[in-house]
Amino acid sequence: MRVSIASDHAGFEQKQALVGYLEGLGHDVADLGPADDGRVDYPDYAEKVARAVAGGQADFGVLVCGTGIGMAVAANKVDGIRAVNIVRPDFAALAREHNDANVLTLSGRFVSLEENEAIIDAFLATPFGGGRHAGRVAKIHDLERKR
Ligand code: RB5
Repeated sequence: MRVSIASDHAGFEQKQALVGYLEGLGHDVADLGPADDGRVDYPDYAEKVARAVAGGQADFGVLVCGTGIGMAVAANKVDGIRAVNIVRPDFAALAREHNDANVLTLSGRFVSLEENEAIIDAFLATPFGGGRHAGRVAKIHDLERKR
């Protein structure tokens, strides 16, 4: 799959490791930065990944900041994005199955690399369930038209 990934300074170290992890799994990874651990603002990098996913250049996005919270809040401002901040693998699977989440946001400060790898595994392995969930996801898109 085509995966776009980015971080802020707090998520940089894990982002670097996760690029290698995703490539090792055979995914086509676009690292949208930053290139070093200098201080940056997470909304700038959330927007890069969100626009890549919303624009169809990536199938999924991964964003890493201190908590993952700011990345999710920012990415969800882009139409078509369903970004979820996940700290345990079973929630990653449910976010795909029920919510058709297309951007995964991770904590680089409070969740280990190994746990984030397990979260990514669950997220990428789980298809959207469709059915009753599809109508609910459509209603999320309706909210974007009411802005
Ligand atoms: C940066 O200090 C921190 O605020 C950021 O990485 C993130 O956790 C925000 O949600």
